[in-house]
Amino acid sequence: MKELRNYPTDKLVLVTCGLPYASGEMHIGHLRTYVPADVFVRLLKKMRVDVTFVCGSDTHGTPVLTSAEAAGVTPKELYTKYHEHYLETFPKLSIHFDNYGTTDDKENVNRTLQIVAELKKNGYIYPKELETPFCDKCNRSLPDRFVRGECPHCHKDARGDECDQGCGRYLEPGDVLNPRCAICGLPTRQVTRTHYYFKLTAFEDFLKEYLTNVDGTKNAKNYALGWVNEGLRDWNITRDLEWGIKYPDDPNLTLYVWVDAPIHYISSTEQWANRIGKPNEWKKVWKPEDGRLVHYIGQDIVYHHCIFWPAMLKGSGYNLPSAIVASGMVKIENHNFSRGRGYVVWIKDDYLDKGLDPDYLRYYMVSFTGHTRDLDFSWDAFADKVNTELVGVFGNFIYRALHFTNKHFGEVPEGTLDTSLKAEIEKCIETIIDGTNEYELKKVADEILRLASVGNEYFQANAPWKLVQEDKAKAGEILYNAIALSKALAVLIDSILPNVAEAVWSQLGYDGPKVHESVFEDALKVPKPGDALGTPKPVINKIDDDLLADLKKNIESRIRLAEAKERGEEPVAEETISYDDFKKLDLRAGKIVECEKVPKKDRLLLLKVDLGTEQRQIVTGLAHLYKPEELKGITALFLTNLEPKKIGGIESKGMIIAIEKADEEGVWVPVKVDGVPPGSKAA
Ligand code: MSP
Ligand code: ZN
Repeated sequence: MKELRNYPTDKLVLVTCGLPYASGEMHIGHLRTYVPADVFVRLLKKMRVDVTFVCGSDTHGTPVLTSAEAAGVTPKELYTKYHEHYLETFPKLSIHFDNYGTTDDKENVNRTLQIVAELKKNGYIYPKELETPFCDKCNRSLPDRFVRGECPHCHKDARGDECDQGCGRYLEPGDVLNPRCAICGLPTRQVTRTHYYFKLTAFEDFLKEYLTNVDGTKNAKNYALGWVNEGLRDWNITRDLEWGIKYPDDPNLTLYVWVDAPIHYISSTEQWANRIGKPNEWKKVWKPEDGRLVHYIGQDIVYHHCIFWPAMLKGSGYNLPSAIVASGMVKIENHNFSRGRGYVVWIKDDYLDKGLDPDYLRYYMVSFTGHTRDLDFSWDAFADKVNTELVGVFGNFIYRALHFTNKHFGEVPEGTLDTSLKAEIEKCIETIIDGTNEYELKKVADEILRLASVGNEYFQANAPWKLVQEDKAKAGEILYNAIALSKALAVLIDSILPNVAEAVWSQLGYDGPKVHESVFEDALKVPKPGDALGTPKPVINKIDDDLLADLKKNIESRIRLAEAKERGEEPVAEETISYDDFKKLDLRAGKIVECEKVPKKDRLLLLKVDLGTEQRQIVTGLAHLYKPEELKGITALFLTNLEPKKIGGIESKGMIIAIEKADEEGVWVPVKVDGVPPGSKAA
């Protein structure tokens, strides 16, 4: 097999992910970092690399503080709630960290104080007077997100620590022009007090060399090198805030959140080491040994990870990251993410709670576009990827192979692996290794899909459905190969689609969850003729059209609502309709005089409904819940002026009104109006 360039199997590799602020729920932008990092970790494991994967909740700084104030709770209450949300949600997406702590944990406070003391001892921290904005109305000093103003570089509206609507540059306290209070909007007054600075300028030469040699994606290295070449400024590391880790030399100051946040990468590793009972294991990566350290982040935090962080590590005697991998940003309809403006897709409410399979989103996240490119999210593109590639190519091959074999042989048939198919599997593994080396998981996903297409072509070209009549042994030979290829595909796709891989594995007759322990060599271990197979069933399903429409409507209404709010209009809930519109609905009592099953349609019942003046034919999808005789004879409420529609090939003129029973999921009960003469109109 090809070499895995930077990841030897005899060293500990630590992979980290940018810590989510525990100030709101997980959204689709987060997944642009977390999914690829998780896939990367699983790929390394398939190549027998010893990997540890850590993350945690970022609990300090103004993001948490402003949200807590808005919610009227303490910062600790707020972060605890969202920390739990993240702890629950990651595993639902098959993202499994070896440790997930918080930046408020004692290990992190201690490690931060140790590093700050070390930096100070080494002469990298000094005090300096600084003018910062103060709001007289709110009676508070205004660091970071508490202040907005004009970006000194691009002159767009920016927040105190980042030009969030313009050029994206990191901003120092005091940088924004014409500052105003982000809470009350009033102009601010400047106040002067002593702050503490980190001597970033002392690290310019070091950073130039470090960034030239560090592994990872070009966007991270090149942007950062550009900034260093423009010239650095010393970094203000204290804030006039109560929430955060107290600055040891002045209890009225706290450390800037970007000091203690990345340090959690270390303390999260320490927490893991303690938990597995090897308290020194974290040093394999951080010091003094030579493990490998890989940071997965989004492009918005390259400055912090490529400039501040390596300088802090260097200045306090820790190992440096071996690779920094930055993903492009997720946008929505080409807009930057913004909760306030409605450009957001929530993972829990908009995805998991809709019953969508997390594997599909994992696939979309790694395969839609190159890792460093921005990803403009749309539900249509998502559904298209799932329906054409996952269902049409991958799922289709697996189902055909397993279904057909099961039907005609009931077990793994006699056969040997075709040399050209074997070569295809080997080529696929090589390309996966290339993609991993390049941090380009789209290459990995596309290659696996290519192998599935090879399978479809093989199946098509050999037409086992014909052969099985003419020469059963030969058909068995073809199907043996299809089974061998399905097995390889399960091993290969496991890193991206762990649930799907598990399903394929059990349909192949193995113990499903064991597929996660497989390594790439197992893709070439052929199945044994005569072995039992599981029950074939499609492993991937199309995204339902109605659900898709619903998902799209959600985003649109959220954006419209936010726009209305911005214009100062009363937000009108999307669901209300005017009374005039309501009057257009013709709701009437109808007596079900005949009711029969529609042949070959599991869910459909054909009703003949007496509406007083006429008898109507109405098709309803309640056959899985009611026997025809249970509905026959009742009088229920019908919408009679719904436009006619063909359902299951039969014209339906109207719709029965039913309510969903709250206690039994998915049971619809017709709204009965027995005793009312057919044709009575509802008001
Ligand atoms: N708390 C900081 C990171 C500290 S790391 C020591 C932070 N938090 S965040 O919640 O805003 O983002 C968490 C991770 O998700 C970061 O890696 C960030 O880059 C990534 N993303 C958040 N929104 C994103 C998009 N819209 N698109 C792509 N990645 C994004 O930053
Ligand atoms: Zn700017």
